[in-house]
Amino acid sequence: METIQNITRPRDTILKLLIEQSGCFVPGELLTGATRLSRAGVWKHIHYLRHQGFGITASIKKGYCLTEIPDRLFPALIQTGLETKIVAREVYYFESIDSTNRIAKQYAAEAVTDGTVVIAEEQTRGKGRMNRDWVSPQYSNILCSVIFYPPMPTSKVFRLTMLASIAVVRTLAAVCGVAASIKWPNDVYINGKKVCGILTEFFADHDSIKYAVVGIGLNVNIDIAHYPAIAGSATSLLQVCGHRVSRLTVFKNLAKQIDSLYQELLSTDGEDLQKEWQRHSMVCNRQVSIVSGEKIMRGTARGITRDGHLVLIDEQGELHEIVCGDLSLNLSEQ
Ligand code: BTN
Repeated sequence: METIQNITRPRDTILKLLIEQSGCFVPGELLTGATRLSRAGVWKHIHYLRHQGFGITASIKKGYCLTEIPDRLFPALIQTGLETKIVAREVYYFESIDSTNRIAKQYAAEAVTDGTVVIAEEQTRGKGRMNRDWVSPQYSNILCSVIFYPPMPTSKVFRLTMLASIAVVRTLAAVCGVAASIKWPNDVYINGKKVCGILTEFFADHDSIKYAVVGIGLNVNIDIAHYPAIAGSATSLLQVCGHRVSRLTVFKNLAKQIDSLYQELLSTDGEDLQKEWQRHSMVCNRQVSIVSGEKIMRGTARGITRDGHLVLIDEQGELHEIVCGDLSLNLSEQ
């Protein structure tokens, strides 16, 4: 963790100071003073930021002036004007990483702040449920993992998945005016195609959650047509809205929604969360099949419990609570 902080902290400090004074010159001495770097050290970071698409004018006499901001997910950009209490107060950023969930679990075990976010521009081994891959080209989508330390028994851990899917639905409505729906257990769909997947992983001691990592992959600007393997089943905001969407705006709103839902989760019995999930559900009262290991169950999905289990009435009229599985909608239903 130390090495990551050493690389990104000074860069973030420089960026924060440039953002604060956006459009004005920031004296070089202010940047060297704040980062404890030499002039050459500061210059190296300026060079990197320019390479990332930031417009930065340099003047020997006046210092540096920020003129243009690219759609990158740097902590300094995320945290400017961020409306959260808990989520993303601490952010670890990677241009490329194997999986944000993997590294987030490592950080979580070392005890970071509740709500810490790990975010990446690219994953080389992005993980989906059931060991599937999660495909995402660099600088296109949102790939993040949020670390939580909820004082809760393990039986409630999937409330975090519910919370994340509701947050995504709220964000898509607020930022893009798009109506999305939730497919149990962890997907968000628009017009029948998957736009977001959520992977919650956790570590428990006896019956209580030590930490949970909620990984979110949200397709923003990926051109799905270039990915034949998922073109039939997935979509992106680019495809739905017909134009590129600012990932930074989407992520900041998402962090805000997760933040308020997490506070609600910690202070209530989960009934409102359950109701909101059911309002956005695309499976309630539909004929479904659920594959769980070797078992297949068929029936009508009735809803979800407060702990995220699917309530299903099978063909014999018997009621079941299903904890996990792969759900498909029965397309032949009327
Ligand atoms: C699924 O639909 O199966 C869940 C996909 C979850 C993908 C996200 S991307 C960010 C985080 N890091 C990972 O390796 N996976 C999750």
